[in-house]
This record gives sequence, C-alpha cells and structure tokens, in this order.
Amino acid sequence: MDLERLKARAAEIAEEETGKLLSTIPGSKELYARAAKSLPSGVSSNFQVGDPYPIYLQRGKGSSVWDVDGTEYKDFHGGFGVNIVGHAHPKIVEALTKAAQNAIHFAVTTPDTVALAEAICERFQLEQMRFVNSGTEATMDALRVARAATGRDKIIKMEGSYHGHHDSVLFSVVPEADVLDMRFHTGAEGQAWYTTEPTSKGIPHALWDTVLIVPFNDAGAVEQALSDNEGEVAAVILEPVMMNIGIVEPNPGYLQALRDACEKHGTVLIYDEVKCGGTIAYGGTTERYGVRPHLAAYAKAIGGGSTIGAFGGEARFMEWVGKGAAQQGTFNGNPLSSAAGLAALTQVLTKDAYDHLSKLGQMLAEGCSRAIAETGVPAHTVDLGAKGCVSYRAEKLTNYRDFLETHPELYWASYPWMVNRGIFMTPGDEEQWTISVQHTEEDIRTYVEAFGEFCQALTG
Ligand SMILES: Cc1ncc(COP(=O)(O)O)c(C=O)c1O
Repeated sequence: MDLERLKARAAEIAEEETGKLLSTIPGSKELYARAAKSLPSGVSSNFQVGDPYPIYLQRGKGSSVWDVDGTEYKDFHGGFGVNIVGHAHPKIVEALTKAAQNAIHFAVTTPDTVALAEAICERFQLEQMRFVNSGTEATMDALRVARAATGRDKIIKMEGSYHGHHDSVLFSVVPEADVLDMRFHTGAEGQAWYTTEPTSKGIPHALWDTVLIVPFNDAGAVEQALSDNEGEVAAVILEPVMMNIGIVEPNPGYLQALRDACEKHGTVLIYDEVKCGGTIAYGGTTERYGVRPHLAAYAKAIGGGSTIGAFGGEARFMEWVGKGAAQQGTFNGNPLSSAAGLAALTQVLTKDAYDHLSKLGQMLAEGCSRAIAETGVPAHTVDLGAKGCVSYRAEKLTNYRDFLETHPELYWASYPWMVNRGIFMTPGDEEQWTISVQHTEEDIRTYVEAFGEFCQALTG
C-alpha cells in the first residue's frame, strides 16, 4: 500500500470526522469557553488539553462514560490506565460510602491504610512500602531514597520515557528526532549514553548533568553508562514495559541484565510500575517477567479510581525514610484512598479478574490484528492484560527511536472516527486502551467493528 496515498486518505478522514465530532459536542465547546477563564487551556492537566477543546465528561457507570451533552461512549480511555475496576463499581462505591461516613481525613494512619499496605506488599512482593498521592510522587520519592541510600546524585533513564512531572525526570520525555543525537554537557560523541536538555521550562540547570539517557532494551548501554560514571549513579529508573509510546515490552533477558549491572555497580534498580503495575498481571512486572527490582513505584490502578501512589521494595533501601530521606505528605494513606484501594485490590482485582481482563484484551488485540492483516494498514497490536494498543508501524517497537517511525497521521484519523462510533479513546498515539473488569465481549466487538470499518475506509 502506497504510504503517501494512505496519509492523504487519513488527512481526509481526520478532517471529515473531526468536523462531525465537533458538531456533536456543543456542551464541551460551551464548558471550554467557561473553563478557559479560570483554568489555563480550560483543563487541570496539560495531558487533558484538546484541540480545539476537549470532550468534557460528567458521568461514568460500568464500562460507559457520558459527556456533558449526555452522549454515551464505551470507555477505552480508562482514565490513562486507572479505571480497570470500571466506573461506579458497587464494591468501590460501598467502600467509599462507608469510609466517607466514618472519616474523610485524619492525617493519621488507619487500619485500612495498613491493610492496603499489606495487600500491596503481598501482591507485588515488596518488603516495605510507603504511600503517596500520585505516580509523580512515587517516582520522586523512590529516587530520593535511592540517592539517600547511595549518597550519589546521577540517575540513568531511558530515552523517550515518562516518569511524572518532577524536576529530576523531565529529561528526554518525547524528544524530537533532531535532538536525539546531540550530546549536551558531559556526553561525548559515540558514547552509549548522553545527557540532554530538559523537556520542560523551569528545570534547574544544576540537574542537567545528573540525568544520563540510554535507549530502552539496550543493557549494554546501561553497563557502559554505569562504568563511565563509576560510583556516581544512584539509580536506573525505567518503566519495565514502556507505556508512553504505545507499548514496548522488554526483550528476553533485558531486565535481568539491568538487575545484574545495578548489583555490580551498587546502583538501585527502580521500576516505574505506575501504569503497568496494576494492569499487566495480578503481581505486575515481577509476576509477568520474573525479575524483581530493588524499588518500584505504583499509582493509577491500585487505588480503584481514587487518588493514590505508593513506592516500596527492599527494606534495606526503604529504611532510609527513617534515616533522613524526607518522605511525607498530608494526604498519604488517607482514609478514602485506602478504602477504595483496599476494596479494589482485595475484592475486585482478584486473580480471576485478571483472567477476564486477559481474555478481553486478547479478543480486542486479535480483532484489530485481523482488520490490519485484511487491509494491509501498516500497524501492529500489542496485548498485555488490561492494556493494549494499535501502533501504526508494521513492525513491533523496541525503543523510542522505533516510535519515531510510526505514522501518527493514521492515528489522528482513527481518533475522531472511533469517538464518533461510540468509543472513547485516549487522545494521543502514545497512549493505549485500558479495559476494565466491567467491560463485556459485546463492548470489545463494538470496538473491533468500528476499527475494522476504519481500516476499510483508510484503504478502500
Ligand atoms: C509510567 C508513569 N510514571 C509516572 C506517571 C505520573 O503519574 P501521575 O500522573 O499520577 O503523577 C505516569 C502518568 O501517566 C506514568 O505513566
């Protein structure tokens, strides 16, 4: 299939379907006009910005969400990987109602907080953990503990990876292709690693040389960076499955090689399981790929939809929170999040629930793969428990540079197409679908049918 022709057809579809979509969301247009006065860009997070404005939601139940115009969609956005319990799950509603009647806030640890900590430690094989309120705080505190334990400043992170929006990790998040091979500061041409400029304005210059960038799935580059900076690297932080560029799985042996390299150089291996932890298996990455980190960060799905984050791992590192590494927060382990998280992890997200999620995920990925094969659209699917995606490149991705070879134009045609057919999607080709325990086979068929028609329209 001629790629230029496909892209031209994608542009036609995007224009037509976007026009159609905008005509059906007048309530969002109106709310945006109001919201933009009090909220920059009319939203509460830069990830919620829409062009020209986002679809504002007002309600969710089961596997559906309703926008402010009252239009129902099947929710495959899943609140960026949070909502694997679905919406208004009776067990979560009951737990939250009881908790609210009992205590909304104390800033004192409660029995539910302790029970949730036990459930998280059991599930993810952690010796100890602490609560925070978001994924950003979870990676921030894990890195602080690693720096405290090692007495070192530098960290290694993967090219094109996201770990939240604190200063230490806002480097090489979604770098443009033309800056990839620039070596700023200490990184010399030809090295396996480099340092880079921050992705955000407002990051202190003092941090620029502390973040060493290496490609994902290249254990040799990590070993090289560790030896070139011997005794200086506190932590290697990575999403063990990259989930901000579609989905990229670790190659066989990669995670073990990282663990070995970290052990050899006295560096802390930190998994950022904020997105993958609760979604890819009952026991997260450790269960799925069999290699434990020294520390790991969690958030999103572990709270049953509530505001939560956690980090933990080996007690020899976690004990640093009692030896001078600041770890605190007014809302940490608060009663509402603890009750919702506890209900989610112990009553809803049971081992059986992951079987259901896997079955639906497989059905969705296979359905989309069939449509791709029948039409020859240059794309592939990834299926990983509650998470999965269509990536618009024929071959699977192994790192961020492969992601730069995908065809976002095709995604941007698919987005309004799917939304117009009742599928609520994440607005960005770097994201993926999230399935909940309340999704049904019928929901999956609705998605697959709409996607199949999209592939036909693109290539027909
Ligand atoms: C892998 C990863 N780490 C950290 C974060 C930050 O989490 P939060 O948005 O809860 O701060 C995200 C959010 O998308 C994420 O995907």
